[in-house]
Amino acid sequence: MIKDIEPNIPDNATIIDMGCGKSYLTFATYHYLNTIKNKNVKIEGYDLKKDVVDNCNKLSKEFGFKNLTFYNEDIQKIDKNKKIDMIISLHACDIATDYAIYFGVKLGCKVILSVPCCQHELFNQIKNDTLSSMLGHGILKERFSSLLTDTLKADTLKLCGYKTNVVEFIETEHTPKNIMIKAIKNKNFTRNEKNIEEFENLIKSFNINPTIYKLLKDYF
Ligand SMILES: C[S@@+](CC[C@H](N)C(=O)[O-])C[C@H]1O[C@@H](n2cnc3c(N)ncnc32)[C@H](O)[C@@H]1O
Repeated sequence: MIKDIEPNIPDNATIIDMGCGKSYLTFATYHYLNTIKNKNVKIEGYDLKKDVVDNCNKLSKEFGFKNLTFYNEDIQKIDKNKKIDMIISLHACDIATDYAIYFGVKLGCKVILSVPCCQHELFNQIKNDTLSSMLGHGILKERFSSLLTDTLKADTLKLCGYKTNVVEFIETEHTPKNIMIKAIKNKNFTRNEKNIEEFENLIKSFNINPTIYKLLKDYF
């Protein structure tokens, strides 16, 4: 997947992994872009878990990855004026994904890769008379809320000027949370009122007030 979008990543880019966890894929991305492709990128990983961050910094040092550093910090506190070219957010929990996307858009990132996870927010809000039968079953409501969450994130990125693709991240036998949103900044983007209206109608029809919309509606 990184290979596909690699031409959109400039040399010397700064990449942030938001909610990086153990960072297996962050290490792989660093290796691919720097050791194989010689792009001289800098990657920073942010996570709330101190032990995980400490271990990642230890490994980075062992590998001699000078431009791969991890920080024990909430992604909501990242410097809003930082220059960032690309954001990765894989399985960041619930609305942490929204903040990752928000930063990506606000900072004008060229590439945003996001795999939403634990999509609880809408589960607690969603109401729709036509679908009340389906929403009356917990498991169906959960799955539908996840799909609607992913749809709104992908649509928000589109309305904010990104070419957006929703793809399977990995086979479902590994994890059911396998939808990746790939967003590349669209240089020829023009605002489209009809698309905005459709998006806002979708929100109204499910009686929801999603964080992604609250964070990014001013960027439509
Ligand atoms: C399910 S793990 C995924 C880890 C890794 N990205 C991966 O794909 O293997 C989600 C991670 O997001 C981190 N996280 C959640 N909310 C966060 C926030 N607001 N700021 C920083 N990290 C956060 C959690 O501590 C956790 O390590």
